[in-house]
Amino acid sequence: MKALPSDLIATGRTPLYNNHSIPAGLGLSHRTRARTWARITVRSGRLRYRSLDTPREAIILTPHRPGVVPPEERHQVEPLGAVEFYLEFFQESAESASGPAAALLRRLREEHVNFRLLLDLLERQLDAFERAARPDYELMEDIVRYMREYPDRFHHPWEDLIFARLANADTAIEPIVADLKRQHATLARSGSDLLDSLRGAVAGVLLPRHALEQPGREYVARFRAHMEMEEQKLFPLLGTRLAPDDWNAVDTMMAARKDPLFGRQVAGRYERLYREIAASTARAG
Ligand SMILES: [Fe+2]
Ligand SMILES: [Fe+2]
Repeated sequence: MKALPSDLIATGRTPLYNNHSIPAGLGLSHRTRARTWARITVRSGRLRYRSLDTPREAIILTPHRPGVVPPEERHQVEPLGAVEFYLEFFQESAESASGPAAALLRRLREEHVNFRLLLDLLERQLDAFERAARPDYELMEDIVRYMREYPDRFHHPWEDLIFARLANADTAIEPIVADLKRQHATLARSGSDLLDSLRGAVAGVLLPRHALEQPGREYVARFRAHMEMEEQKLFPLLGTRLAPDDWNAVDTMMAARKDPLFGRQVAGRYERLYREIAASTARAG
């Protein structure tokens, strides 16, 4: 019997069945759906599991020996005397699969990696304040301008659209979706304020240290926490809860966007920032 892969997403479980409540269908030949795994846990007694695909296999499941049903395996189960058991279902994550949904999800994650690089760079400039040195305001302005220009205008609205579809499919996650949408608005507002201050600093306006350092650090922390929340709470659900139609709608919206920094062509206004990123990743590597 196969082992359950470790990167699956739990999607549900049945009640505890006994000899009187076993659904008749389980005794007949049936199969799990594509990309769906099942685990059979026997609480008491014994259950015979028969795989009807080649190679055919019959295994006795006990409280010490759970059963694992791979996707689309034709099988049947049969109680051997009094038995109690339940089934749990798991879905393969879309990221390990191919297709448009998997590609889009990978893209979302890659963009988070890019944003993290920029936040690290921004944080290093903020650290200059600690040494009473002058941060590179021009570089900081480039970073925050990019955040306003790309994540705020494309990545976040795009997520709002997918997450809203996710909330339609599963109302239990509505509060998380609403929270993330508010966070997008907050990030846009604080990014805009920070950019104004940085433009002033570049133009030579003298600002007290706390007027830049504190909002800068808050922005970095808020952005990082936001991405973490998305990655932990919603990204794992995207691959399994959305229908192809949902992804097509997002795909159309995505086709219209161009990333001026990490895209195919670096826009002239971001050339210096691009060089700084290349240098910092070379140092880190
Ligand atoms: Fe987001
Ligand atoms: Fe995101």
